[in-house]
Amino acid sequence: MSNTEAALKERIKELTCLYEVSSIIVNADAAAMVETIRAIALSLKKGFQFPNDTEIAIETPIESFQTGTINHEKCITSNLIIFNKIEGKIIASYNNSESLFLKEEQPLLDNVSIKLGNLLERIEIQKNETSLKRQMERADRLGILGEITAGIAHELNTPLANILGFAELLKEDHKKDDRASGDIDKIIQNAIFSREVVKKLMFFACEMPQEMKKVNIVPSIKSAIALLDATFKKAEVKYIVKIEDEALFLKADIIQLTQIIFNLTINAIYFSPKNGLVTIEALQTNNHIVLKISDEGAGLSDEALEKVFQPFFTTKPTGDGSGLGLSVVHGIVASHNGSIVAENNPNKGATFTIKLPKS
Ligand SMILES: Nc1ncnc2c1ncn2[C@@H]1O[C@H](COP(=O)(O)OP(=O)(O)OP(=O)(O)O)[C@@H](O)[C@H]1O
Ligand SMILES: [Mg+2]
Repeated sequence: MSNTEAALKERIKELTCLYEVSSIIVNADAAAMVETIRAIALSLKKGFQFPNDTEIAIETPIESFQTGTINHEKCITSNLIIFNKIEGKIIASYNNSESLFLKEEQPLLDNVSIKLGNLLERIEIQKNETSLKRQMERADRLGILGEITAGIAHELNTPLANILGFAELLKEDHKKDDRASGDIDKIIQNAIFSREVVKKLMFFACEMPQEMKKVNIVPSIKSAIALLDATFKKAEVKYIVKIEDEALFLKADIIQLTQIIFNLTINAIYFSPKNGLVTIEALQTNNHIVLKISDEGAGLSDEALEKVFQPFFTTKPTGDGSGLGLSVVHGIVASHNGSIVAENNPNKGATFTIKLPKS
């Protein structure tokens, strides 16, 4: 074969390789980058003068692949640039000491590097767009949630005022009956509390500023659980409150915090079997207050694990639940710069863990 003929043959090989790499990149699926990178490496290998002696390694931030052992004594390299930063490289090595790289082989490598870099940039941009879209969808849902909550809160205001009014009238009539007036006092207390929650819910929905104060949450946890005592009894569910320290101080809106405990504990009771145990735990770390509510129920299905915090997600029969409880909790936790995690216990039941910064 004449020199010109050999050079021409090489040129054709390189062009074929570039063409192949371009098609691989055009058809690349962001979800299957291993395949894409593997295909590019194999195609590059064929583009070199001595394919059988050539090994290619591609290193990227997401996937890496090499066709065989790289001989670092004899290789050429091209950096992979993504958004103006070196984020990986492509290496071509010859394992046979006789073979020499052609001068066209470095530009071939560089060319493929640029194409792969562009592809990885495109994937990154796509990823950001998807996450932005998700955030917007979430914001949309939370917006709807806000409107609904405001509506529900508004609807509850009037009947609550009636409960309070009539209970006060009843109290007058039963002044002399200690037991009855004790019970009526409880009705009044609860109605006042509910009115506060409703008020705060309306605040939450309108995104009004919260009343953030440095408070000890222990008394609030205890009184919330005491208010739920009757609910526990009725459902025949046991409970235990584990509080590490009588002073757990935190900067928070105490009514909203009480609502978190209410919503989570009511869920735990609802999803508990008879005689199941609900554990309410509060502790502190250096910078956080941690609240844990766990039960011994059936736990969360895969679908529930994914969707529990979404407004309107409920597995309760129609009429039993609106699926808003946990989305309200999530909103409150987020507004306190905290985090909430729902997970299944190793044996049975679910645990909700809330971490709130102390200040
Ligand atoms: N402790 C738990 N154990 C098992 N599943 C749970 C638990 N807590 C919540 N879930 C699941 O998450 C869903 C959503 O809960 P969320 O509190 O938001 O709404 P809900 O309880 O169904 O209705 P609402 O709170 O409005 O009465 C529940 O329907 C249930 O499927
Ligand atoms: Mg609920």
